[in-house]
Amino acid sequence: MAQEDSGYRTYHMEGGDGPCSYSQNSNYQKQSVDSAKQMTNEMIDQYLDLGNHLNTSSPNINSFTIADFGCSVGPNTFYAVHNIIEAVENKFKSQKMESQIPEFHVFFNDHIDNDFNTLLKNLPTNNRGYFAAAVPGSFHGRLVPDCALNLAHCSTALHWLSKIPKEVTDEKSPAWNRGRIHYAGADKEVKEAFSAQFGKDLDSFLTSRGRELVPGGLLIIVTLGFPDGVEVSESSMGENFNILGSCFRDMVEEGIIADETLDSFNLPFYYPSPSEMKAVMEANGLFDIKIIEELVPPITREKPDLAVSVLHLRAIIGGLIKEHFGEGIIDDLFERHIKKYVENPIVSDEKHFKEASYFVLLQRKMDVAS
Ligand SMILES: C[S@@+](CC[C@H](N)C(=O)[O-])C[C@H]1O[C@@H](n2cnc3c(N)ncnc32)[C@H](O)[C@@H]1O
Repeated sequence: MAQEDSGYRTYHMEGGDGPCSYSQNSNYQKQSVDSAKQMTNEMIDQYLDLGNHLNTSSPNINSFTIADFGCSVGPNTFYAVHNIIEAVENKFKSQKMESQIPEFHVFFNDHIDNDFNTLLKNLPTNNRGYFAAAVPGSFHGRLVPDCALNLAHCSTALHWLSKIPKEVTDEKSPAWNRGRIHYAGADKEVKEAFSAQFGKDLDSFLTSRGRELVPGGLLIIVTLGFPDGVEVSESSMGENFNILGSCFRDMVEEGIIADETLDSFNLPFYYPSPSEMKAVMEANGLFDIKIIEELVPPITREKPDLAVSVLHLRAIIGGLIKEHFGEGIIDDLFERHIKKYVENPIVSDEKHFKEASYFVLLQRKMDVAS
């Protein structure tokens, strides 16, 4: 797995389409795409300015460019793109501008190590046609030329931090996250360090998209978070991270993993509240905030299949763990994890399902230079 400079890390989901792959274990994220469909349609109908789009297109070329940031290996990105194209076409139709429906161009972005082969092999061929291109690289930086995009989309990816804040692995810092792999249940300084990193990352994301989108262009973000005032440690998700952390600690006690190796590992995830997102977006200043709303229906509240939940986590973080601890521990770790997971009442208790999926619509301001 490649690394970029200054502590910047690249991560990727399990590629291919085997039993532990992301493509076979991403139903949880698909729920977010599905529940965002109606809102995507409504918001595009309300805020996409077709006059502005036709004015900013090159003369004689009527194309509409969409980018999906953090697309992974599919298939969810294909559903999301399908929903967006359908909504844009609906808008043209509702304005009696059917004859001016543009050709669509879609950029699929993820880290350079993403399995783009699996993604491109599975591109849908039988439905709404679009020109497709893969754009590798971090979405915290620039990826396409100025004003190249009409609409940007990012689903269930912004909670991935660009790096672990350095104080959480510094034993002299009050934010040292000793023996834990996440900020759930940790001291407040640990959470503050993760929150500050999230703020910097979101700001970089917005600044880059601010350059890439045409004035008036739309940015749709679907992201995991927690309602204001709810702590991740009160949730089944936080409990899950704590269970995994305890499996790591057992392996330290058994001499399978060194203490320092565990202390230098943290999961690069931060789950913001709506107010935190809003504050960063306002301070960034490049976009008008049209909506930040919890998606209804939210993440399924029905009892999860516990084995599936563990596979889901493995598909997401397996690569990170192998990189830090080596390939050898992975089966052992997840066997321990599933044993503890199925015995823990909190992970499947409805009242602890507190994470939410938020739909955010931003519109690039017309008159602010980035
Ligand atoms: C949980 S997956 C979601 C994928 C897809 N959007 C979906 O809904 O199924 C998060 C994706 O974001 C990607 N990602 C995380 N940080 C990124 C970054 N800085 N630049 C590009 N992609 C990133 C990960 O590699 C991963 O593929």
